[in-house]
Amino acid sequence: MEKCKLIQVESPEKGAEKFYQLIKEELEHNRLHVLGLATGSTMIPVYKKLTESELDFSDVTTFNLDEYVGLPASSPNSYAYFMNEHLFNKKTFKETNIPDGTAENLEEECKRYEQALQDAKLDIQLLGVGENGHIAFNEPGTPKDSVTHVAQLTDSTLGVNSQYFENDEKIPNTALTMGIASIMSAKKLVLLAFGEKKRPAIEKVLEGKIDPDWTITYLLEHGNVTIITDLEF
Ligand code: GLP
Repeated sequence: MEKCKLIQVESPEKGAEKFYQLIKEELEHNRLHVLGLATGSTMIPVYKKLTESELDFSDVTTFNLDEYVGLPASSPNSYAYFMNEHLFNKKTFKETNIPDGTAENLEEECKRYEQALQDAKLDIQLLGVGENGHIAFNEPGTPKDSVTHVAQLTDSTLGVNSQYFENDEKIPNTALTMGIASIMSAKKLVLLAFGEKKRPAIEKVLEGKIDPDWTITYLLEHGNVTIITDLEF
Protein backbone atom coordinates (compact mmCIF):
# COMPACT_ATOMS: atom_id res chain seq x y z
CA MET A 1 0.00 0.00 0.00
CA GLU A 2 1.60 3.19 -1.13
CA LYS A 3 1.32 6.22 1.09
CA CYS A 4 -0.05 9.53 -0.10
CA LYS A 5 2.39 12.11 -1.43
CA LEU A 6 2.24 15.27 0.68
CA ILE A 7 3.13 18.64 -0.82
CA GLN A 8 3.44 21.44 1.71
CA VAL A 9 2.79 24.98 0.46
CA GLU A 10 2.79 28.42 2.10
CA SER A 11 -0.75 29.44 1.24
CA PRO A 12 -3.93 28.38 -0.61
CA GLU A 13 -2.77 30.51 -3.56
CA LYS A 14 0.51 28.60 -3.72
CA GLY A 15 -1.51 25.39 -3.49
CA ALA A 16 -3.62 26.51 -6.42
CA GLU A 17 -0.41 27.20 -8.34
CA LYS A 18 0.78 23.62 -7.66
CA PHE A 19 -2.50 22.20 -8.89
CA TYR A 20 -2.30 24.35 -12.01
CA GLN A 21 1.22 23.06 -12.73
CA LEU A 22 0.11 19.49 -12.29
CA ILE A 23 -2.86 19.93 -14.65
CA LYS A 24 -0.69 21.77 -17.17
CA GLU A 25 1.74 18.87 -17.29
CA GLU A 26 -1.02 16.30 -17.69
CA LEU A 27 -2.56 18.32 -20.54
CA GLU A 28 0.80 18.70 -22.23
CA HIS A 29 1.32 14.93 -22.11
CA ASN A 30 -2.17 14.33 -23.45
CA ARG A 31 -3.10 12.47 -20.26
CA LEU A 32 -6.06 14.57 -19.19
CA HIS A 33 -9.38 13.99 -20.90
CA VAL A 34 -11.73 13.46 -17.96
CA LEU A 35 -11.39 15.63 -14.87
CA GLY A 36 -13.32 15.25 -11.63
CA LEU A 37 -14.07 18.55 -9.93
CA ALA A 38 -14.99 19.63 -6.42
CA THR A 39 -16.70 22.57 -4.75
CA GLY A 40 -16.19 24.44 -1.49
CA SER A 41 -14.22 27.52 -0.49
CA THR A 42 -10.94 25.59 -0.91
CA MET A 43 -11.54 25.46 -4.65
CA ILE A 44 -12.02 29.21 -5.18
CA PRO A 45 -8.30 30.07 -5.57
CA VAL A 46 -7.85 26.94 -7.68
CA TYR A 47 -10.53 27.90 -10.18
CA LYS A 48 -9.30 31.50 -10.15
CA LYS A 49 -5.86 30.28 -11.17
CA LEU A 50 -7.26 28.01 -13.88
CA THR A 51 -9.53 30.68 -15.35
CA GLU A 52 -6.71 33.23 -15.43
CA SER A 53 -4.40 30.73 -17.11
CA GLU A 54 -3.82 29.98 -20.77
CA LEU A 55 -4.85 26.34 -20.30
CA ASP A 56 -7.15 24.94 -22.97
CA PHE A 57 -9.88 22.65 -21.63
CA SER A 58 -11.88 22.38 -24.82
CA ASP A 59 -11.06 18.68 -25.06
CA VAL A 60 -11.74 17.96 -21.37
CA THR A 61 -14.94 16.49 -19.94
CA THR A 62 -15.68 17.17 -16.28
CA PHE A 63 -17.65 15.40 -13.56
CA ASN A 64 -18.46 17.08 -10.28
CA LEU A 65 -18.45 15.15 -7.05
CA ASP A 66 -21.82 16.13 -5.64
CA GLU A 67 -24.90 18.34 -5.49
CA TYR A 68 -27.56 19.19 -2.90
CA VAL A 69 -30.94 17.53 -3.34
CA GLY A 70 -33.61 19.96 -4.47
CA LEU A 71 -31.41 22.88 -5.49
CA PRO A 72 -31.61 23.91 -9.15
CA ALA A 73 -28.64 25.48 -10.96
CA SER A 74 -30.37 28.84 -10.58
CA SER A 75 -29.99 28.72 -6.76
CA PRO A 76 -26.80 30.53 -5.66
CA ASN A 77 -26.41 27.80 -3.05
CA SER A 78 -26.26 24.95 -5.55
CA TYR A 79 -22.96 23.46 -6.61
CA ALA A 80 -24.01 23.88 -10.24
CA TYR A 81 -24.23 27.64 -9.65
CA PHE A 82 -20.85 27.64 -7.90
CA MET A 83 -19.23 25.85 -10.83
CA ASN A 84 -20.77 28.17 -13.41
CA GLU A 85 -19.69 31.23 -11.46
CA HIS A 86 -16.14 30.13 -10.68
CA LEU A 87 -15.19 28.06 -13.71
CA PHE A 88 -17.65 27.08 -16.42
CA ASN A 89 -18.72 30.60 -17.39
CA LYS A 90 -15.07 31.54 -17.85
CA LYS A 91 -13.48 28.50 -19.49
CA THR A 92 -14.77 26.28 -22.28
CA PHE A 93 -14.93 22.55 -21.63
CA LYS A 94 -15.90 19.74 -23.97
CA GLU A 95 -18.69 18.70 -21.62
CA THR A 96 -19.52 19.29 -17.96
CA ASN A 97 -21.49 16.96 -15.67
CA ILE A 98 -23.02 17.55 -12.25
CA PRO A 99 -25.51 15.22 -10.57
CA ASP A 100 -29.04 16.62 -10.90
CA GLY A 101 -30.38 17.18 -7.40
CA THR A 102 -33.77 18.16 -8.81
CA ALA A 103 -34.30 14.87 -10.67
CA GLU A 104 -37.73 13.35 -10.06
CA ASN A 105 -36.22 9.94 -9.40
CA LEU A 106 -33.02 10.44 -7.42
CA GLU A 107 -32.05 6.76 -7.39
CA GLU A 108 -32.26 6.66 -11.17
CA GLU A 109 -30.22 9.85 -11.42
CA CYS A 110 -27.50 8.30 -9.24
CA LYS A 111 -27.40 5.21 -11.46
CA ARG A 112 -27.25 7.33 -14.62
CA TYR A 113 -24.45 9.47 -13.19
CA GLU A 114 -22.38 6.51 -12.03
CA GLN A 115 -22.72 4.84 -15.43
CA ALA A 116 -21.65 8.02 -17.25
CA LEU A 117 -18.68 8.29 -14.90
CA GLN A 118 -17.60 4.69 -15.44
CA ASP A 119 -18.00 5.02 -19.20
CA ALA A 120 -15.87 8.18 -19.25
CA LYS A 121 -13.17 7.04 -16.76
CA LEU A 122 -11.71 9.76 -14.59
CA ASP A 123 -8.09 10.66 -15.23
CA ILE A 124 -7.79 12.99 -12.25
CA GLN A 125 -10.21 13.66 -9.42
CA LEU A 126 -9.81 16.88 -7.45
CA LEU A 127 -10.92 16.64 -3.82
CA GLY A 128 -11.40 18.82 -0.79
CA VAL A 129 -12.15 17.49 2.65
CA GLY A 130 -14.79 18.25 5.25
CA GLU A 131 -13.84 18.97 8.85
CA ASN A 132 -15.13 15.52 9.82
CA GLY A 133 -12.94 13.92 7.17
CA HIS A 134 -15.62 13.44 4.51
CA ILE A 135 -14.69 13.42 0.83
CA ALA A 136 -17.43 14.60 -1.56
CA PHE A 137 -20.46 13.92 0.70
CA ASN A 138 -19.25 10.53 1.90
CA GLU A 139 -20.01 11.04 5.55
CA PRO A 140 -18.48 8.98 8.39
CA GLY A 141 -19.36 5.30 8.05
CA THR A 142 -19.89 5.32 4.27
CA PRO A 143 -18.73 1.94 2.94
CA LYS A 144 -15.73 1.51 0.70
CA ASP A 145 -17.76 -0.07 -2.11
CA SER A 146 -20.27 2.81 -2.30
CA VAL A 147 -21.03 4.30 -5.72
CA THR A 148 -23.05 7.45 -6.54
CA HIS A 149 -25.86 7.64 -3.98
CA VAL A 150 -28.19 9.86 -1.98
CA ALA A 151 -26.36 10.84 1.19
CA GLN A 152 -27.82 11.98 4.49
CA LEU A 153 -25.72 14.91 5.71
CA THR A 154 -24.50 14.89 9.30
CA ASP A 155 -25.17 17.72 11.76
CA SER A 156 -21.48 18.60 11.61
CA THR A 157 -21.56 19.05 7.82
CA LEU A 158 -24.87 20.92 7.92
CA GLY A 159 -23.44 23.28 10.54
CA VAL A 160 -20.24 23.98 8.63
CA ASN A 161 -21.79 24.26 5.16
CA SER A 162 -24.86 26.29 6.17
CA GLN A 163 -22.63 29.30 6.86
CA TYR A 164 -22.24 29.69 3.09
CA PHE A 165 -25.98 29.61 2.40
CA GLU A 166 -27.44 32.80 0.99
CA ASN A 167 -30.91 34.32 0.69
CA ASP A 168 -32.32 32.54 3.76
CA GLU A 169 -32.49 29.32 1.76
CA LYS A 170 -32.48 26.33 4.11
CA ILE A 171 -29.62 23.90 3.60
CA PRO A 172 -30.94 20.57 2.26
CA ASN A 173 -30.09 17.66 4.54
CA THR A 174 -29.52 15.28 1.64
CA ALA A 175 -27.23 15.36 -1.38
CA LEU A 176 -26.28 13.26 -4.38
CA THR A 177 -22.66 12.24 -4.18
CA MET A 178 -20.12 10.07 -5.91
CA GLY A 179 -19.34 7.16 -3.61
CA ILE A 180 -15.96 6.01 -2.34
CA ALA A 181 -15.62 3.44 -5.14
CA SER A 182 -16.55 6.08 -7.74
CA ILE A 183 -13.78 8.37 -6.46
CA MET A 184 -11.26 5.55 -6.13
CA SER A 185 -11.83 4.64 -9.80
CA ALA A 186 -9.94 7.79 -10.87
CA LYS A 187 -6.37 7.18 -12.03
CA LYS A 188 -5.04 10.00 -9.90
CA LEU A 189 -6.45 11.81 -6.86
CA VAL A 190 -5.41 15.30 -5.77
CA LEU A 191 -6.73 16.52 -2.43
CA LEU A 192 -6.39 20.08 -1.21
CA ALA A 193 -6.64 20.96 2.49
CA PHE A 194 -6.00 24.45 3.81
CA GLY A 195 -6.26 25.77 7.34
CA GLU A 196 -6.18 24.34 10.85
CA LYS A 197 -9.74 23.03 10.69
CA LYS A 198 -8.53 20.39 8.26
CA ARG A 199 -5.65 19.23 10.47
CA PRO A 200 -7.51 16.35 12.18
CA ALA A 201 -8.53 14.89 8.79
CA ILE A 202 -5.01 15.04 7.34
CA GLU A 203 -3.55 13.68 10.59
CA LYS A 204 -5.84 10.66 10.25
CA VAL A 205 -4.39 9.97 6.80
CA LEU A 206 -0.85 10.36 8.09
CA GLU A 207 -1.59 7.81 10.82
CA GLY A 208 -1.79 5.39 7.90
CA LYS A 209 -4.80 3.29 9.00
CA ILE A 210 -8.17 2.97 7.24
CA ASP A 211 -10.93 4.27 9.51
CA PRO A 212 -14.45 4.24 7.97
CA ASP A 213 -15.40 7.03 10.38
CA TRP A 214 -12.91 9.24 8.50
CA THR A 215 -13.70 8.50 4.88
CA ILE A 216 -10.61 10.43 3.73
CA THR A 217 -8.53 7.50 5.01
CA TYR A 218 -9.83 5.27 2.19
CA LEU A 219 -7.42 7.23 -0.01
CA LEU A 220 -4.61 5.22 1.60
CA GLU A 221 -5.67 2.28 -0.56
CA HIS A 222 -5.43 4.16 -3.84
CA GLY A 223 -1.72 4.33 -4.68
CA ASN A 224 -1.70 7.61 -6.63
CA VAL A 225 -2.77 10.36 -4.23
CA THR A 226 -1.26 13.81 -3.83
CA ILE A 227 -2.28 15.97 -0.88
CA ILE A 228 -1.53 19.68 -1.20
CA THR A 229 -1.73 21.48 2.13
CA ASP A 230 -0.55 24.58 3.95
CA LEU A 231 -0.42 22.65 7.22
CA GLU A 232 2.89 21.69 8.73
CA PHE A 233 3.31 18.29 10.35
C1 GLP B 1 -18.51 20.12 1.05
C2 GLP B 1 -18.23 19.30 -0.20
C3 GLP B 1 -16.87 18.65 -0.13
C4 GLP B 1 -15.82 19.67 0.28
C5 GLP B 1 -16.17 20.25 1.63
C6 GLP B 1 -15.12 21.24 2.14
O1 GLP B 1 -18.97 19.35 2.10
N1 GLP B 1 -19.22 18.30 -0.40
O2 GLP B 1 -16.57 18.09 -1.39
O3 GLP B 1 -14.58 19.06 0.32
O4 GLP B 1 -17.41 20.92 1.48
O5 GLP B 1 -15.47 22.56 1.86
P1 GLP B 1 -14.49 23.79 2.07
O6 GLP B 1 -13.55 23.77 0.93
O7 GLP B 1 -15.41 25.00 2.00
O8 GLP B 1 -13.82 23.63 3.36
